[in-house]
Amino acid sequence: MVAGVLVLLLPASSPADEAKDILIVETILRLDDFDLGGSGKAQAAVGRYLKENWAGERYLDLIRRFSLKEEAPGVLRLALEQVDAPIGGEASSLLVELGAGGLLGKTLHGEDVTAAVRAAKAIAHTNDSTLLAELTKVLAEASRSTALRSAALGALYRKNAHRHPELLAQVKAGELANDLRQTASEILLLSRDPKVREGAKALFAVGKGEFPPVSELLKRSGDAEAGRVLFGTKTCVVCHQADGTGINFGPGLSEIGDKLNKATLYQAIIEPSAGISMGFEGWEIITQDGAQLVGIVQESEEALTVTMIGGSKRTILKSEVTTKKKLAQSLMYPGLHRLMTPEELVDLVEYLSMLKKTSGGS
Ligand code: HEC
Repeated sequence: MVAGVLVLLLPASSPADEAKDILIVETILRLDDFDLGGSGKAQAAVGRYLKENWAGERYLDLIRRFSLKEEAPGVLRLALEQVDAPIGGEASSLLVELGAGGLLGKTLHGEDVTAAVRAAKAIAHTNDSTLLAELTKVLAEASRSTALRSAALGALYRKNAHRHPELLAQVKAGELANDLRQTASEILLLSRDPKVREGAKALFAVGKGEFPPVSELLKRSGDAEAGRVLFGTKTCVVCHQADGTGINFGPGLSEIGDKLNKATLYQAIIEPSAGISMGFEGWEIITQDGAQLVGIVQESEEALTVTMIGGSKRTILKSEVTTKKKLAQSLMYPGLHRLMTPEELVDLVEYLSMLKKTSGGS
């Protein structure tokens, strides 16, 4: 009787068994030519480990090492759920390595729009030409939603600066669908290629000629509600969070109205480099393998984490850094006010000036 109760109280796999599985997994990952098929015990341990540790530390390593194609559905789930994190990118590439990239293509063409948008982003991590061709197809399908086609456009172009001139030319020639102009403007205005940025500014600029001086703008009052919309459409959300929307790359602006008055808000937008906020200075890092990274840097004892525009992060060991240079310019591009009419800029500043701790939203 007592023994029976004890058995019921014991969990199916005890912590000790789990520790044993982890040990087995760690060990076989270190062996160069371990034949998993040759050991039933190891196979069982790996199977249990993968089941218990979905998305865990060794999950993708194990699947890659032994080309466990039957695990592709779990990898797909990880690629989609964590699409904006490094592990999601790794999962996406692994799908292609496993010969299961088709799962991403199927999700992209499926009816679940949220999943399809995530699949588009996941494909951008893979650089797989077959899958990229699927993105191009989606881009041309007018029946698909703007959200999905925008995601496809972003996935195809955002990180590929060498294709930005081509996109710029398409927009100029009026070849891009109107509902994709917004996304195209964000990609091009934030391009790493300064020539493209200049071209985009000229193309998307609305305020022609002289902009009234700040002293003049300060005399006007704007429409904060219109300003809130502009915050979302004039690239601010790509780098700032306010009212719960946007990406946290630059300083959060949810309480900026407490910190800056209207005059300094205008200056922060028109001439960002005049006063760069502490902790948000830009750095240029060059690594031993020749990669150039520009962004905001956080340092620990051994490593640097660079947060880049768009919010993606990369961590590099200090021993791998060859050059680390502080930029004199703000990471916020100058001249963003040129994307607006003076009236719109006044509306935007009105909105920002009302973002206060005490405002209670709305
Ligand atoms: C490419 C990224 C990027 C974009 C786009 C961008 N910003 Fe910034 N912004 C930054 C960074 C980085 C800083 C901090 C460095 C500095 O002060 O220049 C900053 C600083 C600011 C500040 C000062 C914040 C403070 O705490 O002092 C304001 C205000 C601001 N941005 C408003 C805007 C508005 C409004 C837009 C849209 C028109 C915008 N930003 C677009 C990156 C960006």
